[in-house]
Amino acid sequence: MDDLGRIRFEKDNEEERESMNHSGEIIAGVLAPHPPHLVYAENPPQNEPRSEGGWDTLRWAYENCRERILALKPDVLLVHSPHWMTVVGHHVLGLKKFKGLSVDPIFPHLFRYQYDVDVDVDLSLQIHEEVKEMGLNSKVVTNPHFRIDYGAITSLHLMNPAWDIPIVSLSSNNSPYYFSNEVGQEQMIKLGEATRKAVQKSGKKAVLLASNSLSHRHFTSEPEIPEDMSYEHIYHHGQYLWDMEMIKLMKQGKSRQLIDVLPEFMDMTVAEVKAGALTWMISAMGFPDYPAKVHGYGTVIGTGNAVVEWSRV
Ligand SMILES: [Fe+2]
Repeated sequence: MDDLGRIRFEKDNEEERESMNHSGEIIAGVLAPHPPHLVYAENPPQNEPRSEGGWDTLRWAYENCRERILALKPDVLLVHSPHWMTVVGHHVLGLKKFKGLSVDPIFPHLFRYQYDVDVDVDLSLQIHEEVKEMGLNSKVVTNPHFRIDYGAITSLHLMNPAWDIPIVSLSSNNSPYYFSNEVGQEQMIKLGEATRKAVQKSGKKAVLLASNSLSHRHFTSEPEIPEDMSYEHIYHHGQYLWDMEMIKLMKQGKSRQLIDVLPEFMDMTVAEVKAGALTWMISAMGFPDYPAKVHGYGTVIGTGNAVVEWSRV
């Protein structure tokens, strides 16, 4: 064996030893959009406003995805949401329980949700350590009155309405807005790597939720009955074409190309992926090269939303 071969052999052995020490794994990732309308339409007991339904194709997409994800029996659900925005660094929840009322500031007539959330504090703290190790800023939230954002709650509710799996919630650092899409992406790629290392060390089976829609131009008024589906459609055709382009890359397993195109997609469609959830998840999963499963696509007040699953099952 030549020198290069020996170095490779030792490196492979080292990686194998490392992976045997820690059996944790990200078993799936889901693009899990969070229009509060979807929770409103389901009429769960936690949400105060009542509805007559609506946005059924997206809710059926979530139903199908949920069935597959819960069958994998994850130990923990990790969510990254654009609506917990932090100016300095990346924050995680550091208390075992958070309880309170979450109100969507734009749609208070649709979403007033009593949440009662169990947090996997060990994994949160592990992520905190790994994030610092990557040279990024990190902070642990220990304020018991901290209010969890409606984006995280909506994605988590739609993925697991029983709330019987602990969660980890990560904030979205504001770098794409203060600096550039590209700087934001770089941060999220590092955050994803830190998340993967923490999950591996935890020994747990984790599912990641990227809580965001795709195209995000939307109507500024709503019908008298918000769930009147005769008013619901994509904001304009250009948004639809961009969304389909993104979904095509997902279905083809081209996650690196997907991440490369995202900065332009963000500018063209005011896309919510700008806040970083999708990039974080794809990076944490090691840029999967297998086809993602698209459970469904639909619009909410004109925005494009897809429920998409990455898992090898
Ligand atoms: Fe949002």
